[in-house]
Amino acid sequence: MSNVRPETMERITTTALAEAFIEEQIAAIKAQVGDGKVLLALSGGVDSSVVAALLIKAIGKKLVCVHVNHGLLRKGEPEQVVKVFRDEMNANLVYVDAVDRFLDKLAGVAEPEKKRKIIGAEFIRVFEEEARKQEGIDFLAQGTIYPDILESGPVKAHHNVGGLPDDLKFELVEPLKFLFKDEVRVVGKTLGLPDNMVYRQPFPGPGLGVRCTGAITRERLELVRESDAILREEFAKNGLEGKVWQYFTVVPDFKSVGVKNNARVYEYPVIIRAVNTVDAMTATVENVPYELLHHIVDRILKEVDGVNRVLYDLTPKPTGTIEFE
Ligand code: XMP
Repeated sequence: MSNVRPETMERITTTALAEAFIEEQIAAIKAQVGDGKVLLALSGGVDSSVVAALLIKAIGKKLVCVHVNHGLLRKGEPEQVVKVFRDEMNANLVYVDAVDRFLDKLAGVAEPEKKRKIIGAEFIRVFEEEARKQEGIDFLAQGTIYPDILESGPVKAHHNVGGLPDDLKFELVEPLKFLFKDEVRVVGKTLGLPDNMVYRQPFPGPGLGVRCTGAITRERLELVRESDAILREEFAKNGLEGKVWQYFTVVPDFKSVGVKNNARVYEYPVIIRAVNTVDAMTATVENVPYELLHHIVDRILKEVDGVNRVLYDLTPKPTGTIEFE
């Protein structure tokens, strides 16, 4: 099958166009897979979620979704995947708690690319194990979108983790492969996925692992997760969600001295980063209103135990990258 988007294909900008696309894809999926079973790695990101929703509509429980919780997801994410897909969409969902496995493998590893490789390789291993437990899988669904095929931008250049072994090479089902991100979102919305799933900011494959710099510890990972949840909540409340390209917190691997309740404390800082970009090659810093920043700082200091300082990163890309690692 060609990997070039047909010139006649209209851009999907409305619900009506999305509905037509969905009908067309349901027919195409049914024609391709027949009675076969399809496996999907469902991260809860926009692309895999939309593929899941589409396939559930087309083939129901013949789709087996595997959600791997590697311990590096944001607060509430694994729970939301279970709620939306298993509870609400009645999906055949396998939830794999691989938190200890990933964190044990990552213990003591400080080098960023090494961390990425471990996370990627372990992910494939866990997914492979789940694939082997399933009987009669013939197809593998993937959330490939058109920019992945065009290989534009640095985002997917990081996806250097290899794939499943040869005896698990299934025929691919890639219903979104000619869509751009904005079209995927319209389709996802039309399929009834929640807004915070469809309009979410980009999130790297290695997740919070690259925001807990150096060797990951459970303690600092929790500080990243809790502070990130506060930042996201405040951005959403103050109309910045969907306006700012990417915003998150980072917890570096050093402590500093501070004062709490009249006593000296030696604790971790949290760094806030909020950037805008068109293609992720360069990025500028969002001018978050100072009043809001102060409010977020107050909340993090009050609510996240073990943090005594909050910093705001004003570095554009270049010279910084968007992430810290
Ligand atoms: P950087 O930090 O390189 O990030 O300026 C550019 C964009 O890519 C995302 N990113 C990743 N995405 N796996 C991914 O899937 C990764 O290892 C990875 N590293 C960075 C980053 O969040 C930003 O959107």
